[in-house]
Amino acid sequence: MNQEEKYQNDYFNYLCEPENASRYQLLLDQIRQFSPVKPIRLFDIGCGNGALAKYVDSEFLYHGFDHNPLAIASAKSKPWSNNNSQFEVSNILQWAHQTTEADQKADVLVFSSILGGVRLSTKQENILIPPQEQDLILNCIENHLKPHGLISVVTTFRYDPNDPGSLFSFATTNRKQLNGRLPLFKLSTLTETILPMPDLNKAVKRQKNKPRWFHSPRLYTDNDQGDYIAHEVCTDKEVCMGVWCSLFKRKDI
Ligand SMILES: C[S@@+](CC[C@H](N)C(=O)[O-])C[C@H]1O[C@@H](n2cnc3c(N)ncnc32)[C@H](O)[C@@H]1O
Repeated sequence: MNQEEKYQNDYFNYLCEPENASRYQLLLDQIRQFSPVKPIRLFDIGCGNGALAKYVDSEFLYHGFDHNPLAIASAKSKPWSNNNSQFEVSNILQWAHQTTEADQKADVLVFSSILGGVRLSTKQENILIPPQEQDLILNCIENHLKPHGLISVVTTFRYDPNDPGSLFSFATTNRKQLNGRLPLFKLSTLTETILPMPDLNKAVKRQKNKPRWFHSPRLYTDNDQGDYIAHEVCTDKEVCMGVWCSLFKRKDI
């Protein structure tokens, strides 16, 4: 199924379902806790069908970007889409090199479930490798984030609900991989939380078109040498999704 079809059918519905609310509520709470300004101008990069916009309140000025026009059309059609939320078709790989005027820059940039290379595009030639992803994030910060602005990063991983230890081991492996892609030398960590989402599978099961990760659940593990190159481990068991929500502050200014 191509990216267009995914937004024409119910493939991404689970993002907006109540079982998926906690990850957006958590990231917004993290931002509220650490943002020195109100209202908080938030840029949601790769916003998809605008699920995060469902949970923003009047403390936020929300602006969602996605390169898929059908994602943006879907986001605009949602009942919670209102004057407080704006959506724009924009390819982040180009947008990162443009500049937002100083008074329009964001107080927080949100990268939710888009980092990790393959997620950040639909076209083979646009697939990012880790160093390029670092540059992309640095350009976004430099050109679109206010001094002292915040960066919210949410990544997902799978864990085995029957093996509680797997929550932390797979979360940690996921994060080690991501850390190689983040420009950590420019970021100070403010807070981070690992969140299990055991009920999300219920929302996915209500869908006719299930996401690919659900059909072929994958767990990740370190290799024998103990370095951070992950091997995919396929499993027949039903696995759950967990998310890792981190909030950073830019370090350079
Ligand atoms: C898994 S969805 C995540 C949606 C949303 N961030 C969330 O957490 O609910 C990934 C989104 O990134 C978008 N995307 C991928 N590459 C992009 C790019 N180069 N520019 C803008 N959006 C992009 C896709 O169209 C898709 O909607």
